[in-house]
Amino acid sequence: MSQNSWPELEQKLFLRTFTRSPVTLVRGKGARVWDDQGKEYLDFVGGWAVTSLGHCPPVVVEALEKQAKTLIQVSNQFYTVPQLELAQLLVENSCLDRVFFCNSGVEANEGAVKLARRYGKLKLNGAYQVITTYDSFHGRTLAMTAATGQDKFQEPYTPLPPGFINVGYNSVEAIKAATTAQTCAVMLEPIQGEGGVNMPGDDYLREIQRWCREKGIVFILDEIQTGIGRIGTLFAYEQYGVEPDVMTLAKGLASGVPIGAFLAKESVSVFAPGEHGSTFGGNPLVCAAGCATVKYIIDHDIPGKVSQVGNYFIGKLESLKRRFGFITQVRGRGLLIAVEFNSEIAQEVVMACLDKGLLVNKVKPNALRFMPPLIITEKEVDKAIGILDQVLAEAARR
Ligand SMILES: Cc1ncc(COP(=O)(O)O)c(C=O)c1O
Repeated sequence: MSQNSWPELEQKLFLRTFTRSPVTLVRGKGARVWDDQGKEYLDFVGGWAVTSLGHCPPVVVEALEKQAKTLIQVSNQFYTVPQLELAQLLVENSCLDRVFFCNSGVEANEGAVKLARRYGKLKLNGAYQVITTYDSFHGRTLAMTAATGQDKFQEPYTPLPPGFINVGYNSVEAIKAATTAQTCAVMLEPIQGEGGVNMPGDDYLREIQRWCREKGIVFILDEIQTGIGRIGTLFAYEQYGVEPDVMTLAKGLASGVPIGAFLAKESVSVFAPGEHGSTFGGNPLVCAAGCATVKYIIDHDIPGKVSQVGNYFIGKLESLKRRFGFITQVRGRGLLIAVEFNSEIAQEVVMACLDKGLLVNKVKPNALRFMPPLIITEKEVDKAIGILDQVLAEAARR
């Protein structure tokens, strides 16, 4: 098949869900990827905040090779060592006590909500409603579409499963007002990722935790995007002075091998055998990748490095903001950062960066999001800033 026909083939074969950039990526190493024409790109999309240790990190490749030759899949009817080791790593390094492994972020959130509903049934007189916020993103199943407070995701699929109340983000009062005897949980992202890298107000998470404790309802943090070092601590909750009752993880947990997990405090760990399950969840292969990833991140203080390089990157973006008046805001923490423009130019900036060998993400029509590998260097940040500078200078001339 000729190299030019991949997009044609995609057009013909696929349901039309993704808006793809016109490149076919075939290889990656560290923070770089190459397309089928041999062109190199610096990757600041990172598989949508997934490739924490960069592309094909040797420790993960080695762990996968070794595990693939040993045991790939057995059922959860049996104990397996990589799964136990990953559970131990996550529990020992977080404020949570128990874990369930699944295969994606949305499944982790579904599981967390099922756990909260089970808790509601057993401890809160059947309370079942979960409060979430506008501009959140919790995944694509029908239930998580109902949890995701964005019209554009919900409207095509109404009526949605009941049991989710969406309220304004960053408003403690809105959550208080929406809480009733039917409420079993509040579920929030510490920083809203897909919604535009929206930062929580100073005391927002602390106040919500206090409210959940007061009402006896479950406080769930969706750390699928913010967790595993992305914002400069292993988990985002550490920076906001809170401890969730339930936390969900996925994305960066296994360097790109599909995995999800939710963790719970003992007090809300109410599942009985048979009440939840998964065929592939936590299989030896993915957990070997997860162990290699999490061990490396902890042993090499990757969160500390993320904090440093993230501050450096934000500083450089702030200087672009001073140069280009149409940048209205730089926001984010660690290596989850957005730049907002005063008009809807994000797509043209993405395409111009692509042309110059830099991959970036349009998170909103007027905003870019950066989620590079956590091992990115200041030199690579400088290179990205150089390309952005050129692209924005061209945009300024138009
Ligand atoms: C905060 C958050 N929750 C859930 C999800 C859904 O994860 P997945 O696409 O792995 O199902 C995402 C994905 O972007 C996310 O950012």
